[in-house]
Amino acid sequence: MSCSAEPAVISFPDTKLSGVSHGGTNGITLASTRDYFDRRASDYVLEASWIKDQGLIDLLVEPLDRGSRFLDVCAGPGILASAALDRGCDAIALDVSMGMLCQVPRGVTRVCGKAERIPLRGKSVDVSVCRQGLHYVADLDLSLREIVRVSCLEIRVANVVMWSRRDIEFWRDYARLVTPARTQYFGPGELQGRLEGLGLEIIEARHFSHRTRLAPSIRGLDPARQKRVLRLFSSQPARIVRSYEIDQVDETDYAYSVRWDMVRARIPEGLSGELPAI
Ligand SMILES: C[S@@+](CC[C@H](N)C(=O)[O-])C[C@H]1O[C@@H](n2cnc3c(N)ncnc32)[C@H](O)[C@@H]1O
Repeated sequence: MSCSAEPAVISFPDTKLSGVSHGGTNGITLASTRDYFDRRASDYVLEASWIKDQGLIDLLVEPLDRGSRFLDVCAGPGILASAALDRGCDAIALDVSMGMLCQVPRGVTRVCGKAERIPLRGKSVDVSVCRQGLHYVADLDLSLREIVRVSCLEIRVANVVMWSRRDIEFWRDYARLVTPARTQYFGPGELQGRLEGLGLEIIEARHFSHRTRLAPSIRGLDPARQKRVLRLFSSQPARIVRSYEIDQVDETDYAYSVRWDMVRARIPEGLSGELPAI
């Protein structure tokens, strides 16, 4: 896939891309992830209400000094990078999918690359964010270390997480049908734990509930698969129905509540230098 829109995408073709597996359980590779998001790219922003939610965008791009260098990792169409650009920052969007990068607005530097090996020098940006990208990375630890390595001041991570680790079967079934590129499943508070484990100082950790709808996320699936997803929602045990507040809207849709975890963490002086460049 190539982009017709200017400016040009800085691309880092990685010959190892198609060889990187995610543990061999489901055959996902970085190349299959890229192809999957290339296919989703044109309708991506319509798939869920959180994508353009201004409150969530503000939470991840503020505070931010004018002129800051801002990196959006697993940027998709670059909604956060674009918000940083609007705030007078130098914004970079990094993603493995060229289809997604084609949607990134003019003025944002677009880099085609992978989170596991960010093609930037150490400490070359001030603030990095990653929203809903860590679900898909091949190597979570490596990706987080890379984000820390390239950042000077702060990293901000936000993800939908399970209400409880016990819900993993529900999410695995959901991912198999709806988001087959998914590699990671986070329990409540786990992202914070990961960042603390890397030696970062937590500035803010919050979680909130977001009411969402199933129909937009399954619109692009074939009818048989849509039916299987609807059956999955209709057959959940009472514990899951209660936690996720699952309500049937009509025969083609369900409303439910997901948990978001958002963590802002400061990089202590000297730390990013200690992390080895990959
Ligand atoms: C659910 S989308 C999130 C997009 C954006 N961050 C947002 O919040 O709207 C996940 C994005 O991660 C990208 N991605 C997945 N694995 C990646 C990797 N290992 N390196 C870089 N990008 C990756 C996908 O191409 C996709 O655009």
